[in-house]
Amino acid sequence: MILPGLVDVHVHLRSPGGEHKEDFRTGSAAALAGGFTTLLAMPNTQPPLVSLDYWRVAQNQAISQSLCDVFLYAGASAEHLDQLPLLSARAPALKIYLDQTYGPLRVRGLNALEEVMAGWNVDKPICLHAEEESVAVGIALAAVFGRHIHFCHVSRRSEIELIARAKERGLPVTCEVTPHHLFLNENDARRLGPYGDMRPALASSGDQAALWEHINSTVDCIASDHAPHTRAEKERPEGAPPGVPGLESTLPLMLTAVAQGRLSAGRLEELLARNPRRIFNLPEQAETWVEVDPEAEFVFPEHPLYTKCGWSPFEGMRLRGRITRVVLRGREVVRDGIVLNYQKL
Ligand code: NCD
Ligand code: ZN
Ligand code: ZN
Ligand code: ZN
Repeated sequence: MILPGLVDVHVHLRSPGGEHKEDFRTGSAAALAGGFTTLLAMPNTQPPLVSLDYWRVAQNQAISQSLCDVFLYAGASAEHLDQLPLLSARAPALKIYLDQTYGPLRVRGLNALEEVMAGWNVDKPICLHAEEESVAVGIALAAVFGRHIHFCHVSRRSEIELIARAKERGLPVTCEVTPHHLFLNENDARRLGPYGDMRPALASSGDQAALWEHINSTVDCIASDHAPHTRAEKERPEGAPPGVPGLESTLPLMLTAVAQGRLSAGRLEELLARNPRRIFNLPEQAETWVEVDPEAEFVFPEHPLYTKCGWSPFEGMRLRGRITRVVLRGREVVRDGIVLNYQKL
């Protein structure tokens, strides 16, 4: 089976400031091993990417250190409103955190929110970390201001059904779901402890079922929300930071779903490549494709992981669908799960 180079619109590559968890080199190696050739990296770094200066330095680093194409989000901060028009000319999308998650970025209050929207004065997606009622806030913003709102990692039945109704009304909203919310629920969270802790938290089996019900309609993209933290951080007695890695497990999991008849191979291609490229207006990559063996069964992971954190909440899972080869711009970059010409440091 041949797929186009996949696009992950939600990853945390941790640079600058969190290079002990991941960096552009290790994160992009994990991406290639997982069939992704284009990444959109989140701005909740240290410092966060809320000013043109920080953003530019990080984007240049991403270009020089990454093994695949990496684009960086602009981060919204009410303290840096003057930076938004500058960022909006360069970054493919804006990220606004409406609720508490990992990192300091958060926009609080309707005034700040309206000012941020005004600063982002281009027709490029405004992506929200929005949980529960905050999803309704995002829908209201799309309705009143006519701006394209993209909902990150939708995880609950109430949320996906509200987004479905907003779409029925013709509002300019799109959304992504993650493989961990599709394949895991609160029972797995108990089993996994800190290694199953992320935002949004794993939900009920009813919420999980709702995401599958909408996989062939409301859902626009599958995104990994690759959010690596070290084992030591996850095992800190005073509490673990939320987030799990996902770049290397996303395609095998979704191929397993295809094998189970939950979606077609064509739909997988839409969710992991065509829709992300269209929604975020990302350039095509010539002579770029991913070869998979959809019949191959194995226990994940088959090879040592490339992500610097070195663990996965899906360890030990029986999956169906192996990545055999990745070609990027005419160059073979992955063969039999191994990233070529790459030294693990
Ligand atoms: C993310 C992180 O670690 O940066 N964590 C998470 O649990 N998803 C932040 C986020 O995406 O909300
Ligand atoms: Zn988030
Ligand atoms: Zn429904
Ligand atoms: Zn995230």
